[in-house]
Amino acid sequence: MFVFFNGSILEEDKVRISPFDRGFQFSDGVYEVIRYYPKKFFKLDLHIDRLKRSLSEIEIPSPAFDDLEFLLMELISKNNISEELSTAYIQITRGYQYPRRHNYSNDLVPTIFISVEKFPRKKDEMIDGIKVGIGEDTRWPRCDIKSTMLLAATLLNHRAVEKGLSELILHRNEKITEGTHTNLCFVKGNSVITPPLSNFILPGITRKVVLELCKVHGINFTEREISLSELAEFDEAFILGTTKEITPIIEIDGVKTKFNKPGHVCRKLQTEYSRLYNG
Ligand SMILES: Cc1ncc(COP(=O)(O)O)c(C=O)c1O
Repeated sequence: MFVFFNGSILEEDKVRISPFDRGFQFSDGVYEVIRYYPKKFFKLDLHIDRLKRSLSEIEIPSPAFDDLEFLLMELISKNNISEELSTAYIQITRGYQYPRRHNYSNDLVPTIFISVEKFPRKKDEMIDGIKVGIGEDTRWPRCDIKSTMLLAATLLNHRAVEKGLSELILHRNEKITEGTHTNLCFVKGNSVITPPLSNFILPGITRKVVLELCKVHGINFTEREISLSELAEFDEAFILGTTKEITPIIEIDGVKTKFNKPGHVCRKLQTEYSRLYNG
């Protein structure tokens, strides 16, 4: 596999990262995941903007990213996946620092790593829907930063998957935030409802695109706080994310929902979303 590491494209096994890199020692870094629909990266500009913001929020100097699209296409081509639905993963850490100390020097050189991977969509989930659970959001209160510090999210997700659930509806004090790796939308009547942007959720690119689709296609939407107690009243629910796109929820563990199959608002948004990357 060819990857990009600190300025060059090379074979994955030639990459050498110091154990004193702050990414390894402290999860001191940020990342992005971008979808490649043959032959284009979807909403790359929005992902770059979010990456720059994440870097700025944790005071890591940002690279220019001028040649990022070229570089990503080069990786796709060198790995022979030009015709495959894929993802690019970009990780930037604060870099090497020795001796290990919590406080960081301001003159560190960031470590930049990019890989691409064939990543088919889970068609059955997108068509038939998924079963999710409910979990307390135990993550730090800066979930608006796409940090590599994902331990709370991975533990929550792992335990959910072990119980046969695909995702969790996370909440803080009974107020719904997001999933472990997705944003959440609900439908009441014909209106889409989603939690508002705040420090407690990631400003998802899919969420942004879906809200724009609602605007364009005359679907009402509200960004507002949602209580767990409302789950039983919704007519539809779905998760949003770069690789999940728009995936319907058909069951919420422990909740007697009004729905048990994907709804028409979800189907309409799925169709319009697919037009964006096919068009
Ligand atoms: C916590 C969290 N929320 C939401 C999302 C969805 O964001 P996007 O649509 O930009 O992929 C992700 C994606 O990885 C995520 O990790």
